[in-house]
Amino acid sequence: MHVHASAAAAVGTRRERCVLARGTRVAYVEAMNLHEAIHTRRAVRAYTPRRVEESVLRELLSAAVCAPSAMNAQPWLFAVVQDVRQLKRYSDQAKAMVIARTSSDPKSQLYAARMRDEQFNVFYNASTLVAIGTADRATYSEADCWLAAATLMLAACNVGIGTCPIGFAVPVLNTPEAKAELGFPPGAAVVAPIVLGYPSAEPEPVPRAQPRIVSWSRP
Ligand SMILES: Cc1cc2nc3c(=O)[nH]c(=O)nc-3n(C[C@H](O)[C@H](O)[C@H](O)COP(=O)(O)O)c2cc1C
Repeated sequence: MHVHASAAAAVGTRRERCVLARGTRVAYVEAMNLHEAIHTRRAVRAYTPRRVEESVLRELLSAAVCAPSAMNAQPWLFAVVQDVRQLKRYSDQAKAMVIARTSSDPKSQLYAARMRDEQFNVFYNASTLVAIGTADRATYSEADCWLAAATLMLAACNVGIGTCPIGFAVPVLNTPEAKAELGFPPGAAVVAPIVLGYPSAEPEPVPRAQPRIVSWSRP
């Protein structure tokens, strides 16, 4: 990533200071270190309408494919959606699918209530969806896709772009119609839908439990 210290503006939130758009060129300032990105990344659920620039997305996808994969198979395929109406259509379908599958489980009831809210968009009105899928049905293909997703999310955090995995969108994105529209081969599976965009609010920190270490053998 490029660092242009001259582009630094000493105003706004840390995230706002991270990315300054100059036409199509984006200058990255105050890039985080890896430790900071790991410890500050949050699921972002509020976005500005600003579209993530193609050059930035390409850099993030280049980072995603640095993820490890079983046998170095690199089985991931990426579909990028920046069409707001297409995203709204998928969101509406995803909501209907969740409602149709509602059970008596209280959590399921809670989700269904959320989905009945007309204003709710499962993609949080983010400008961009990256759907990561695979045509390989190898044992670790799904794990590989999620590793690419995690790498993408950390790379995005590093440059002030918010992300959130959207499990609710998995069923709709795996319909034959959506897969065809997105360019995935019919036998492919869409594994990891990730939304990206410029955050409109700083997410609250989410508590983490200490690592549950169940054993630690030493000679
Ligand atoms: C497989 C997976 C699916 C998820 N699906 C959704 C989703 O559909 N909607 C959502 O708002 N967040 C979703 N999340 C985000 C999690 O809720 C979030 O990562 C978790 O609460 C921890 O918060 P943090 O990411 O801010 O640390 C998903 C996360 C994962 C890993």
